[in-house]
Amino acid sequence: MKKAPPNIHFTQNVSQQLQSCLTLFNPDKIAILVDENTLVHCLPKLTSFKGTLLIQIASGEKNKNIETCQIIWQKLTDFKFTRKSLLVNLGGGVIGDMGGFVAATFKRGIPFINIPTTLLSQVDASIGGKLGVDFNEFKNHIGVFKDPDAIIICDDFLSTLPYRQLKSGFAEIIKHGLIYDPAYWQDIQMTLISGIKEWQYFIEKSVLVKADVVKKDPYESGLRKILNFGHTLGHSIESWYLDTEKDLLHGEAIAAGMIMEAKLALDLGLIEKEYFKQVVSYIDQVFDRVMIFPPFDKIKILLGQDKKNQGSTVMFSLINGPGSCLFDIEVSDAQIADAINFYLDSGSNP
Ligand SMILES: NC(=O)c1ccc[n+]([C@@H]2O[C@H](COP(=O)([O-])OP(=O)(O)OC[C@H]3O[C@@H](n4cnc5c(N)ncnc54)[C@H](O)[C@@H]3O)[C@@H](O)[C@H]2O)c1
Repeated sequence: MKKAPPNIHFTQNVSQQLQSCLTLFNPDKIAILVDENTLVHCLPKLTSFKGTLLIQIASGEKNKNIETCQIIWQKLTDFKFTRKSLLVNLGGGVIGDMGGFVAATFKRGIPFINIPTTLLSQVDASIGGKLGVDFNEFKNHIGVFKDPDAIIICDDFLSTLPYRQLKSGFAEIIKHGLIYDPAYWQDIQMTLISGIKEWQYFIEKSVLVKADVVKKDPYESGLRKILNFGHTLGHSIESWYLDTEKDLLHGEAIAAGMIMEAKLALDLGLIEKEYFKQVVSYIDQVFDRVMIFPPFDKIKILLGQDKKNQGSTVMFSLINGPGSCLFDIEVSDAQIADAINFYLDSGSNP
């Protein structure tokens, strides 16, 4: 785990880096995809950028769906985009996942560049080529694997990101330490997120963890499943919220998922009690507990659509010590229910 792949560019001058990528790809037309927040806060940073077409969509997970894709595909069609045309996705994980999916499927695939502008998308979502949208209530249910032609990462974008969104991204950083790198986990635990002034260290470290795992298993047939630690139960909670008026960020759901799945690891004898307590108390230090949960029957239905399932069996990725994680672990319904109850009941005293 030493070097980022060649399509990932860390820069302090996003405009210049984008220009040199565009010179290299030499597209006949360029569209840029933004939401109302990245339009205001991020687009002005691309000072010399002259695209053919600006496509603006409404922000948020609730818009990460096929209906929004249709709006984007229609715009590209109206403006006669060809296979030589290019899409720049300027935004968080929603813009990156959905814009990438649109590009990967338009005319069987046009080049695209992701410029992630949230912490979560810089440390995780933009890396690894998983693209897609939610379908009905199921997270990332429709999608493809395809790597962006370039990923341009500039921590300067984070200066306008709301604190709640920064924290959401930090959940994936915690996950990277827990599943893959014990020294990183130590560093993370010594960190108070409100005190972080420079994000560069965490961004580069997390990108290297994710890129290393993905390189070993690009299509998630084995090892890559460890990146789903916290996401099996986390996604089911996040999915349920999608169908309600309530709002829960991806990282907040994953933080809850990591506590519940750490409890599963404890109950299965994969981790020691002391380590379990350390994990839970650190996550509790960063995140409030999510107290409104779907009924267990609903969680079961949502788990039934998890992409790691084998037949009708739900498979978990569970930590088994600092910086280490196993995958394809079968867990009983009773153990899942216990983990949920533990999470809901132990808020102030794990
Ligand atoms: N593809 C993957 O491997 C992968 C991995 C993890 C998560 N994800 C996905 O990522 C998504 C979550 O991504 P996210 O947390 O970036 O959410 P997001 O894309 O919804 O962005 C969060 C909010 O921040 C705003 N924003 C973005 N950049 C900003 C900036 N610089 N300043 C001010 N506001 C800004 C956005 O408009 C939005 O309102 C989920 O859909 C999740 O499933 C994908």
